[in-house]
Amino acid sequence: MTNKECIGIELLGNLHNVATSVQSLYKFQYKHKLLHDDIKFIHSDLLDVKEWWSVGTVVYIPNLLFDNVLMEQIAEKAKYAPWNAYWICLKKFSSTTFHTEFELIHQCPVEMSWGQSNVYVYKRCSNA
Ligand SMILES: C[S@@+](CC[C@H](N)C(=O)[O-])C[C@H]1O[C@@H](n2cnc3c(N)ncnc32)[C@H](O)[C@@H]1O
Repeated sequence: MTNKECIGIELLGNLHNVATSVQSLYKFQYKHKLLHDDIKFIHSDLLDVKEWWSVGTVVYIPNLLFDNVLMEQIAEKAKYAPWNAYWICLKKFSSTTFHTEFELIHQCPVEMSWGQSNVYVYKRCSNA
């Protein structure tokens, strides 16, 4: 992963295929709005994709239905995140591991395709 790259990781093959199939259309429609237009989709378990947690400067984790085990596994990666990285998610992290590394800086309700959901914005802090 380069510092100009945007990657999307999805476990389910059919959702990964949908993302890939609209990639060129997405680039065509939104290229002028994208800071990082080097977009890559990866069909994988997010825990098996190396480095996103240590190089990602803005990470979106749609974790609304993630179980506690996966939440803990993601929280373990938090200590490798770069300073000032933003992790944006749909369910709060509860583990101490996570909160020693990240500070919750913002939360607000956002209208999603399935209804309203809270969005939480965490920032990696050196002295959190
Ligand atoms: C709330 S949906 C979000 C779907 C879509 N990415 C979006 O943002 O609209 C959460 C997605 O996380 C995927 N997921 C769950 N566990 C995962 C894992 N360990 N690695 C990668 N993706 C996972 C699910 O298959 C599901 O599609």
